[in-house]
Amino acid sequence: MKRRPAPISRSLLAAMLFAALAGRILAQTNAPKTTSAAPPEASAPAKKPDVVFVPTRPEVVDKMLEMAEIRTNDILYDLGCGDGRIVVAAARKYGIKAVGVDIDPARIKESLENVRTNNVAHLVTIKQADIFELDFHEATVVTLYLLPELNVRLMPKLAKLKPGARIISDEFDMKGAKPKEVVHLDPSPDDDNGESQSTLYKWVVPWEPE
Ligand SMILES: C[S@@+](CC[C@H](N)C(=O)[O-])C[C@H]1O[C@@H](n2cnc3c(N)ncnc32)[C@H](O)[C@@H]1O
Repeated sequence: MKRRPAPISRSLLAAMLFAALAGRILAQTNAPKTTSAAPPEASAPAKKPDVVFVPTRPEVVDKMLEMAEIRTNDILYDLGCGDGRIVVAAARKYGIKAVGVDIDPARIKESLENVRTNNVAHLVTIKQADIFELDFHEATVVTLYLLPELNVRLMPKLAKLKPGARIISDEFDMKGAKPKEVVHLDPSPDDDNGESQSTLYKWVVPWEPE
């Protein structure tokens, strides 16, 4: 059976994300390794993930893709793709090409399995790479669920995407870039404390400075 992480509160998630960032090893990485959707063997990571894996809720994935206003020729990159749920949803629902990138071999394995079971290998590529070493200039849609400071580190590359490219971030803003849209989503119905409430941010290249 497919392993699913236990439900997690939003505040615990934030604490975990920041703890992971604070504790990360500042080792330098080699050139990124690439794994196509075909061979399921993933390599050991060159460095630790900058942030732990916490999956985006399915209804939030749907909203992120809706906010991206996807067109037929779009190429979506999910930077830190976890189990591949966003790239698989983009391919299934919109029939577009999508690339999921993660540094963690366990996530690569899960993503490849997700791609396989959903029969979207003709549309989805999964790469094992460090997103900070990655060339993603072909992306017309980028999805993020990282940390505010990681979003900021990606800004120089995001700013060079084609005009009109959309960037959608779950939960975290990007200091210095004024979002075009901010959406607050209600918590999931089984969440009594409201901690699963989500805020989504959208920027369109070139964005307005903040
Ligand atoms: C919070 S999870 C988001 C997963 C997925 N995008 C989603 O929304 O469900 C962040 C992911 O980023 C990955 N990650 C962290 N640092 C990374 C790096 N430098 N390069 C590539 N992936 C990284 C982690 O392994 C993790 O799977």
